[in-house]
Amino acid sequence: MSYGLLKGKKGIIFGALDANSIAWKAAEKCHEEGAEFILTNAPVALRMGELNGLAEKTGSEVVGADATSMEDLSNLFDRAIEKFGKIDFVLHSIGMSINVRKGKHYTDMDYNFLTKGWDISAVSFHKVMKTAWDKDAMKEWGSILALTYIAAQRTFPDYNDMADNKAYLESITRSFGYFWGKEKNVRVNTISQSPTPTTAGQGVKGFGGFMKFADEMSPLGNATAEDCANYIVAMFSDLTKKVTMQNLYNDGGYNNTGVSEKVAERFI
Ligand SMILES: NC(=O)c1ccc[n+]([C@@H]2O[C@H](COP(=O)([O-])OP(=O)(O)OC[C@H]3O[C@@H](n4cnc5c(N)ncnc54)[C@H](O)[C@@H]3O)[C@@H](O)[C@H]2O)c1
Repeated sequence: MSYGLLKGKKGIIFGALDANSIAWKAAEKCHEEGAEFILTNAPVALRMGELNGLAEKTGSEVVGADATSMEDLSNLFDRAIEKFGKIDFVLHSIGMSINVRKGKHYTDMDYNFLTKGWDISAVSFHKVMKTAWDKDAMKEWGSILALTYIAAQRTFPDYNDMADNKAYLESITRSFGYFWGKEKNVRVNTISQSPTPTTAGQGVKGFGGFMKFADEMSPLGNATAEDCANYIVAMFSDLTKKVTMQNLYNDGGYNNTGVSEKVAERFI
């Protein structure tokens, strides 16, 4: 069902890789709700070719950009401004740890991998916002969002250096969010999503186990990628204008649950 919540709104969506991606579902929902946007991903992801199908379905243009490259981001925002004028929303749905990918244990961290993953997963959010800031690309009462995970607050041993990257990402959200609010009337938030079976999610060792555990711990069960897409629409809509500098849990209540009966029963 469409409510037309994003009618007339324009934006940029980073990070749709395939139909499982959270950004993919978000793009579909934003389109259903009346938004127009540019879809972007790293050149290596574009070579997979899947994004073209989403672009066709949503009437969007695809512009490649490595989110760690200031030059790519500058070109991307120039194109968005040329096409739309100032924009209303940005979704940063990007994450990658080379240490996770290469199976390096947290206690045996490769620091070159760490630096690269930190740049992709956390600093890129600052780079995206700085590019938008320098170009004065955001409309007043616009909304900037990134996706995060509760490993920034609690220890999940196999989440590795992504936990630290997410903590940094959430801190950037508050720090830059202050200036966006004060000087531009733009809000900046993160959504902390349940474990979700995507390429990035499934790269984490033992993912199936902790996805099931989270589901049994959460009074409402895990939030799906589609649930997340709906929340993203709400955060881009005019119904959430004064929400900023927040880490917003979309996790079925997991973050506030000490233990559920379902999980406890296993130990009786
Ligand atoms: N899947 C989960 O369990 C889960 C839970 C909480 C938060 N998140 C977060 O959601 C976001 C989206 O991930 P997802 O689960 O949809 O997985 P995904 O693998 O579909 O998306 C990750 C995206 O990051 C992109 N990316 C990687 N390096 C990039 C670069 N240098 N420049 C631009 N883009 C780059 C990838 O191409 C991909 O599209 C990430 O921030 C992730 O950490 C995921």
